[in-house]
Amino acid sequence: MYQVTQVSHTETYRVRQPILREGKPIETCVFEGDTDKDTFHLGLFSKKQLIGVASFMKNKSLLFSEEKQYQLRGMAILKEFQHQGLGAQLIEAGECILNQEEVNVLWFNAREIAVKFYKNHGFKIIGDTFNIPNIGIHHVMFKKLN
Ligand SMILES: CC(C)(COP(=O)(O)OP(=O)(O)OC[C@H]1O[C@@H](n2cnc3c(N)ncnc32)[C@H](O)[C@@H]1OP(=O)(O)O)[C@@H](O)C(=O)NCCC(=O)NCCS
Repeated sequence: MYQVTQVSHTETYRVRQPILREGKPIETCVFEGDTDKDTFHLGLFSKKQLIGVASFMKNKSLLFSEEKQYQLRGMAILKEFQHQGLGAQLIEAGECILNQEEVNVLWFNAREIAVKFYKNHGFKIIGDTFNIPNIGIHHVMFKKLN
């Protein structure tokens, strides 16, 4: 019923904009690293409708000593599809690819409202909370893979 496949960075804007940049111009949906060669974007489809996205970018945080690190960015599910356990499909598909690539750590800046969701999927908080202007309080979260 639901399918995860790789999508282009421009396709992710269809979910990034209403969920992560509501009311803001499309340019705010463009993230640094979107077109890097090591970046991949996953889309969750219900039939032919794109209902969720997540982007995985090769990026090192000084919080970790591991060599191969990826950052999760732009994780979002369309409102009418949230709270149905669908976000897990994107996270799991991403982790599967990262495991194959022998990536050591997946980390990201998590919005406070999403912390519980990530904890339910085995991620842990590291360090102090911090504010991202116009977006809100965030925590760095991570999971060690290989
Ligand atoms: C955060 C987000 C990606 C999670 O995806 P999701 O598919 O909604 O995740 P889930 O459905 O697995 O879990 C969300 C909540 O719904 C609950 N839930 C899961 N299945 C459910 C069901 N069948 N019925 C009711 N609730 C359910 C989960 O327990 C969870 O609650 P909790 O966070 O209080 O534990 C999504 O809600 C979203 O896009 N939020 C807005 C954007 C955002 O904050 N992105 C993260 C940026 S860091």
